Amino acid sequence: MQWKALSLALALLVQHGHGQNRPGYEMLRFACSKLVIDRIDPLVTPGTVPSPHLHQIVGGNSFNATMDPKTHDLPTESTCTSCTFSEDFSNYWTAVLYFRARNGSMRRVPQGVSEALHADGGITVYYIPPYHAKGNVTAFKPGFRMFAGDATGSSPGKAPKICHRCMPKTGDNSNVNCASPDTQTLPNKFCEGGIRSVITFPTCWDGVNTDSPDHKSHVAYPVGGIFDDNAKCPNTHPVPIPQVMYEVIWNTQLFNDKALWPEDGSQPFVWSTNDKTGYTQHGDYVFGWKGDSLQRALNARCNGDVCSELKSQTPEEAMNCTIPQVVKEDFNGWVTSIPGMTEAP
Ligand SMILES: *[C@@H]1O[C@H](CO)[C@@H](O)[C@H](O)[C@H]1NC(C)=O
Ligand SMILES: *[C@@H]1O[C@H](CO)[C@@H](O)[C@H](O)[C@H]1NC(C)=O
Ligand SMILES: *[C@@H]1O[C@H](CO)[C@@H](O)[C@H](O)[C@H]1NC(C)=O
Ligand SMILES: *[C@@H]1O[C@H](CO)[C@@H](O)[C@H](O)[C@H]1NC(C)=O
Repeated sequence: MQWKALSLALALLVQHGHGQNRPGYEMLRFACSKLVIDRIDPLVTPGTVPSPHLHQIVGGNSFNATMDPKTHDLPTESTCTSCTFSEDFSNYWTAVLYFRARNGSMRRVPQGVSEALHADGGITVYYIPPYHAKGNVTAFKPGFRMFAGDATGSSPGKAPKICHRCMPKTGDNSNVNCASPDTQTLPNKFCEGGIRSVITFPTCWDGVNTDSPDHKSHVAYPVGGIFDDNAKCPNTHPVPIPQVMYEVIWNTQLFNDKALWPEDGSQPFVWSTNDKTGYTQHGDYVFGWKGDSLQRALNARCNGDVCSELKSQTPEEAMNCTIPQVVKEDFNGWVTSIPGMTEAP
């Protein structure tokens, strides 16, 4: 159960190097199963069908290509969610990983199982009260959305917030936070437990705008580390918001076959942005919790995926929540190019 490993790692990280006088390190962490794999992107390219690259999406079933924040109220428009907490109609999505075989053919790497949610994979979502907030954290407002990463990135970031780990066959609870052994590049070896990608969103908000033209400027990372007591939100973005984090396991071990890997020793995985480096992995977030449910859960310091303030559903109910693909493309067999890409990566 990789997500338990990660939360344990967070707990250890926080105990280590932090003084007393602090509440427990509570965080919401829960599984979401696949809602759809599709080439639409209501955050970055609303209304554009197909969008430039492929995504795997989880969350509420009101997800569609437009989702105009002025009119599209996710909790009202949704009738189900693929996440454990049944009042969370938010949408969460990332790029999709591909494997490129020696002969040039490519195949989608399935996401791993997130807890009991095994409907063609899923992700684990975290809402962590950031330590610099000293316990006070403001939930997102309706219409809030944001983006983490750089879908056209071509070089490593200085303080990585998005990274990959080559997972061993079983548990790995050393550090998170994108420090070594995690890398911004894709690991170039057989990973017996698949490749884990972690996407860490900013924790400081300007207090005014629910979005911005680049979907990033209304939020900021704190000055100092997210797990650093002395970190502070910058003056431009003074309001602490929950640390949204995605953990995704990609089942790359299905392709651990020497006969399929490139003969020149290069690494064979490619993001659906057509990127072999790994720098373009990114996360999209559209807030959609019903009413004040998220704020109540944060105030109650709920921990894990059981919370007296929140309604939950069974894994069967969560996995039952899916929507049809809008862009009808083959996402499963061997293909000669990644959907939307004309050139070899
Ligand atoms: C998305 O959903 C909203 C609300 O149901 C609807 O008004 C809009 O037409 C939908 N857009 C697309 C592209 O389906
Ligand atoms: C490339 O290799 C894969 C895996 O062996 C195979 O399924 C596929 O058909 C091959 N593609 C071509 C174009 O030969
Ligand atoms: C937390 O919020 C309360 C109420 O707004 C405020 O009185 C208190 O000073 C805040 N604590 C910190 C550490 O910011
Ligand atoms: C799954 O969805 C169908 C159609 O909406 C519904 O009839 C069925 O009861 C659902 N099953 C579960 C386990 O929620």
